[in-house]
Amino acid sequence: MQRKHSKLIRSIVFILTSLIFSAGFVCFLQSPGFAQSADEPYELKLPPYVLEPIIPENNLLTNGKVNLGKNLYFDKRLSADDTVSCSTCHDPQKGFADGKTVAVGIKGQKGARNSPTTLNAVFFDFQFWDGRALTLEEQAKQPITNPMEMGMPSHDALVEKISTISEYNSLFKTVFKTDKITIDHIVQAIASFERTLITLNTPFDRFIAGESSALSDSAKRGWELFQGKARCLTCHEFTESYPFFTDNKFHNIGVAMKDKDFEALARKAAGTDADPSALAHDKASAELGRFLVTREPKDIGAFKTPGIRDIALTAPYLHDGSEKTLESVVEFYNKGGVPNPYLDGGMRPLNLSDEEKKDLVEFMKALTSDDLPEFIKELNP
Ligand code: HEC
Ligand code: HEC
Repeated sequence: MQRKHSKLIRSIVFILTSLIFSAGFVCFLQSPGFAQSADEPYELKLPPYVLEPIIPENNLLTNGKVNLGKNLYFDKRLSADDTVSCSTCHDPQKGFADGKTVAVGIKGQKGARNSPTTLNAVFFDFQFWDGRALTLEEQAKQPITNPMEMGMPSHDALVEKISTISEYNSLFKTVFKTDKITIDHIVQAIASFERTLITLNTPFDRFIAGESSALSDSAKRGWELFQGKARCLTCHEFTESYPFFTDNKFHNIGVAMKDKDFEALARKAAGTDADPSALAHDKASAELGRFLVTREPKDIGAFKTPGIRDIALTAPYLHDGSEKTLESVVEFYNKGGVPNPYLDGGMRPLNLSDEEKKDLVEFMKALTSDDLPEFIKELNP
């Protein structure tokens, strides 16, 4: 009785905060720093039941930094030939991904992996499909000098280029109180902007908050399947305080194991001391996944469990973009993935009926933030 009662109060608080939250939501991405001072702390407006993400002590969020980072994120001058920005591959209009099978960088060069969304990246323990970066700052340094992506010859070359742009000189001076721009300033600002890209207002969130009619019957059945028969929740973990559908771990679900001698490839990769970021851009070795970072055989072909919020917006799917639709992803799981010596023990055939497959897809579609268009309009990229 006592428990029921407190559950009811919690639900009411949840609904109220959700309402306040949805009203305030569009403000999340509003360009700060105009009326307010650049030094003012930038407050992430999270619902009270969601755990605060970790913000590095040496890069606390300020309005000025977020605004500067936004400018940098959308600026093609960060690439060698002024044709590619972060937003080319993490485009707000495409769920902050790019809609392509694999990323396409300067001079039309195709990379080895699919571009993940930058939405909610602040909440993940690891960045990249193989987790080779632990912070958004560290992550942002890599695409800048990746010859297949933004192609700058070095971080120093970028610093030099940015330093010749007078608007940036004054912005960096206001935000970092220095005349000397560094690569760390640049990535700190970009990471700060990314930390504000949070979407937590979906039909599913309203359903969890107690609004039963927020989900269709099919999506409700899909949520049951996701937790039960379809076993999705074992890796795409969900709790009210960490509602991001990932266990922050790496699993081999067999995505790219077809027709490849992975043992031979792994032996070859293990024998080199090449840096994981270089191996991750090479088409063959990129498929080794987490192994590139740990060099442990159990991590061969293992990739990060991605969060699946706003998943309907970011087709195609999986680290190699090999599944074009959510229906085909479900079909992939229904078969139990692709058998291989390193397949995760949690993968097995699911025997889902056609209706059950549809229900799972309906559930995943209900993870789309319906105010994202407004969110983007406010962002005014
Ligand atoms: C040419 C396309 C391209 C460009 C340009 C690009 N990215 Fe990415 N981004 C990718 C791809 C592909 C991955 C995954 C690569 C991997 O796992 O090896 C990725 C991964 C990420 C991730 C990790 C997300 C996750 O869930 O693991 C973040 C964050 C990110 N990029 C931010 C940025 C920022 C910031 C910039 C600009 C400085 C940028 N990207 C430029 C294609 C691009
Ligand atoms: C054993 C852990 C595990 C289980 C169980 C699991 N997933 Fe995944 N999921 C992953 C991993 C790891 C990836 C990325 C794999 C890759 O690209 O190689 C992924 C990728 C996905 C993607 C693509 C995300 C993107 O951004 O491209 C979707 C959608 C998805 N899973 C849905 C599901 C559904 C639905 C179920 C249940 C039927 C499920 N998953 C069960 C670990 C798991």
